[in-house]
Amino acid sequence: MGQMMVFCRPGFETEAGRELTDVAARAGLFGYFQSQSGSGWLRYHLSSQEIPYELLAKVALDELVFSRDWFEPLVQVELPASDRVGAVVAGLRPLAHAVAGCDRVEVRIPEDNQDRDLGKFARKWMAPLSRGLREAGLLGEATGGERSVRLEVFLPDFGSAIVGLSRAGNRSPFAGGIPRLRLPAVVPSRSALKLEEAWKVFLPPERRLPVLGGGKKAVDLGAAPGGWTWQLVREGMLVTAVDNGPMNPGLMASGHVEHVAGDGFRWRPHRAVDWMVCDIVDQPRKTAALVVDWFAGRFCRYSVFNLKLPMKKRYDEWLVCRQILLEGLSGLTGDHRLRARHLYHDREEITCFVERLE
Ligand SMILES: C[S@@+](CC[C@H](N)C(=O)[O-])C[C@H]1O[C@@H](n2cnc3c(N)ncnc32)[C@H](O)[C@@H]1O
Repeated sequence: MGQMMVFCRPGFETEAGRELTDVAARAGLFGYFQSQSGSGWLRYHLSSQEIPYELLAKVALDELVFSRDWFEPLVQVELPASDRVGAVVAGLRPLAHAVAGCDRVEVRIPEDNQDRDLGKFARKWMAPLSRGLREAGLLGEATGGERSVRLEVFLPDFGSAIVGLSRAGNRSPFAGGIPRLRLPAVVPSRSALKLEEAWKVFLPPERRLPVLGGGKKAVDLGAAPGGWTWQLVREGMLVTAVDNGPMNPGLMASGHVEHVAGDGFRWRPHRAVDWMVCDIVDQPRKTAALVVDWFAGRFCRYSVFNLKLPMKKRYDEWLVCRQILLEGLSGLTGDHRLRARHLYHDREEITCFVERLE
């Protein structure tokens, strides 16, 4: 089909499409996108049949901010009310060579699906669909997880399925690109989910302990009521929480938090800390400049921060902030890495991660 199916937060299809078009063009690949506003997915059209492989070889999903996940579509199948498995099997038979090597199938539905029956159906359908595909020789025996090529089935509704492939190493490690996270009831705010998701997205499991563990020191700018601080404390960190607002009393009772009532844009630590996180809602350029200043002063080694993007110029504003960050960081001693992602738990903001590489 010469296309990619790309998934993003509903309402951000244009940002995801523009970004992918730009990033692909920088890699020498030219295409265009088609989307329906609010759907949470888009089709990126490439200029030749071979190019999905080329695109995946040249562009990593990790480079993209607004795209959560993607796969290469192979065929669109109309699903009759009876024997939907049979329809998928029939649709894939002529493509048996293309799906050879697949050992798992994943079924996904639109993120903002309002039809509870479709959600239930997708969950229950997975087992009979896998069985039917294996019996037809279109799905190999499962060898386990991330090493495989995976068959992807997207159900925009009950009537059709878009079937394709995703490849380990260049797809989201989370089903449908969305990590499922839970928090205990004691957490001061649900914002805590954002920091947890950021760590899951930006740190592979083997880096989590060295980067977060070992009793590190952290500063949380714009900390109140303390969801992010709670996450830092949970990792065993000692935290300075900077905010004029009140912190959650239960969290303060942990003895791991010092509360400073002050301006997060001006406050700096006397001694360097490991982590600075910032969830202040302000002009994104101001936050980007603040982060550069922290790294310029070597006040921290790692930072997670949010950039609240203005409604009508979300992608353009990100490009400006990215420039501020990249230019600012490139002028400093040492190498720095910047990553950014529009997380599932983000709304109008995106979340960035900067680290100084040693
Ligand atoms: C979105 S809330 C932070 C939520 C927090 N991350 C949590 O998980 O509970 C933004 C916070 O930034 C604070 N804030 C706004 N401007 C600030 C500034 N200049 N300095 C410090 N804090 C600021 C607000 O008081 C508010 O508590």
